[in-house]
Amino acid sequence: MYNDLDRILITSDQIQQRIAQIANTLDNDYADKNPVIVCILKGSTLFFSDLVKNMKIPVVLDFISISSYGKATKSSGEVKMIKDLSESIENRHVIVVEDIVDSGYTISYLVRMLSSRNPASIKICSLLDKPSRRQVEVAPDYCGFEVEDYFVVGYGLDYDEKYRNLPEIGVLKPEVYSGK
Ligand code: IMP
Ligand code: MG
Repeated sequence: MYNDLDRILITSDQIQQRIAQIANTLDNDYADKNPVIVCILKGSTLFFSDLVKNMKIPVVLDFISISSYGKATKSSGEVKMIKDLSESIENRHVIVVEDIVDSGYTISYLVRMLSSRNPASIKICSLLDKPSRRQVEVAPDYCGFEVEDYFVVGYGLDYDEKYRNLPEIGVLKPEVYSGK
């Protein structure tokens, strides 16, 4: 898999250090709130599990799955629900955990959809943010790293379902996805 990378952008140690900081901030912000932490399948799974392991307050875990790009490297703007949450979020404090906010279509759709269920609050926690590519006005409330306009893989992020299990985040060589 490493042959397909131009370079490593964020090392495993850097990821873990940043996650410990975010977990600490969430512990403070959500003390006594018993928040529902929502993992967006599949990209957020590694971030989500390391994040909740670092948190010391009680939390409820839930999972949601929405359509991704498939083989394309750009969002179509069309988002489809594949698997819904298993519990009600009415009057609950919700933290949506995302791998990356790129165009912003996915997360803004999700926040709009979940907000209609009357949660007490809803915030976005994203490992990565690519603000230069934004199409809709949305920003993560908690963010691990800002990245430039590269297609990145690893630590949950895929291209065509590959590279998710890399422990670090790397820049995919353009020739791997060019022409798609
Ligand atoms: P958005 O709807 O354009 O904000 O895209 C969000 C989703 O697209 C993320 O949850 C990722 O699954 C995927 N995505 C966006 N940029 C990248 C990238 O650089 N690498 C891998 N997946 C990405
Ligand atoms: Mg994806």
